[in-house]
Amino acid sequence: MTATKGLEGIVATTSSISSIIDGVLTYRGYNIDDLAEYATFEEVVYLLWFGNLPNQDELSELRERIDEFAAIPSAVIEQMKLYPSNANTMAVLRSAISALALYDGTANDMSREANVDKAIKLQAQLPTIIAAFARIREGKEPISPKAGYSIANNFLYMLSGEEPENNAVVAMDKALVLHADHELNASTFAARVTVATLSDIYSGVVSAVGALKGPLHGGANEAVMRMLEEIGSLNRVDDYIQQKLDNKEKIMGFGHRVYKNGDPRAKHLQKMSRELGNMKGNLELYEMSTRIEELVTGQKGLKPNVDFYSASVYTMLGIPRDLFTPIFAISRVSGWTAHILEQYENNRIIRPRAEYTGPSSQLFIPIQER
Ligand SMILES: CC(C)(COP(=O)(O)OP(=O)(O)OC[C@H]1O[C@@H](n2cnc3c(N)ncnc32)[C@H](O)[C@@H]1OP(=O)(O)O)[C@@H](O)C(=O)NCCC(=O)NCCS
Repeated sequence: MTATKGLEGIVATTSSISSIIDGVLTYRGYNIDDLAEYATFEEVVYLLWFGNLPNQDELSELRERIDEFAAIPSAVIEQMKLYPSNANTMAVLRSAISALALYDGTANDMSREANVDKAIKLQAQLPTIIAAFARIREGKEPISPKAGYSIANNFLYMLSGEEPENNAVVAMDKALVLHADHELNASTFAARVTVATLSDIYSGVVSAVGALKGPLHGGANEAVMRMLEEIGSLNRVDDYIQQKLDNKEKIMGFGHRVYKNGDPRAKHLQKMSRELGNMKGNLELYEMSTRIEELVTGQKGLKPNVDFYSASVYTMLGIPRDLFTPIFAISRVSGWTAHILEQYENNRIIRPRAEYTGPSSQLFIPIQER
């Protein structure tokens, strides 16, 4: 038995949800470029869960169900008020989702119908949790979700309490479409491993949130913004990046396990970053980012991934840095739950082997003689 470090190149399951073939990403066979251009996030959620794009009635019904479930139990809000105000936002999300399960009488109902309902609940409630905590930690009361709003619109509204501008809603919606699913990424795999024991959907999503939190996965978007803040201005980019490259340090937001010729999502986020910069009359973050890309791609051949331009996009939307990874989760919960439903449909426990590298033939010595 020989281990493959990081399971690189290992095909661990079949799936009909999303594919990455020759650098092209599709959800259920639809190119991400078309979905980013023409579909709303809710249409994509429907597509991921049910396998086809919705007609108008199907979409309206899904949106009504999301509205129905978007409020979170007051007990969960009260618990969040007891969390430390400086708590890591992904840890807050992980804890609050775990708490949600305690108040859902159907949490352990394993029927397909109950699990689809729980997927809708999770999709509806994650934005509410994050927006609520963002306000609670500032000593403000959470704002209830409004019926009739898209997920992107509601999230921005619940964060600030003000009606967001249309261009902000469009940008947020597109960011959600781009992050919704990504084949067998680390957090999705974590979700599938958990539910393959026939554990419940909440446990699967909690596992996924824990995996997404790390800086090599979803946490990279925050790390990119920390880097941009540390650099501070366009004229300092070259020295900063050169030093990192010379020291063989990682530049966050670059590289990918699967894409070697570039992440197809990055160009959409780059365009959004430029457009938002133009709208704001301040292109510095965009220009710093493109200069970093020139240097890193020029010298290392590494291309930006989905997290690189997300950082400047979210910042220009006025979102605090530590909500970037939770926003990734707001979107990816659609993919996680689609994969969980698929895993339940054709389940076998996921239990690989390890190549043993420890000592062998040890002689047991009783504790008194050690
Ligand atoms: C995404 C990532 C985890 C993939 O990891 P992986 O498939 O195990 O790739 P490796 O770490 O083996 O990288 C291969 C080579 O490229 C280098 N490399 C990869 N990403 C790099 C980066 N962001 N900056 C500098 N060098 C990088 C590695 O050091 C390694 O070089 P070596 O062969 O000289 O040792 C990795 O590219 C990374 O850490 N990127 C930064 C974090 C990030 O943006 N994550 C979000 C992913 S969407």
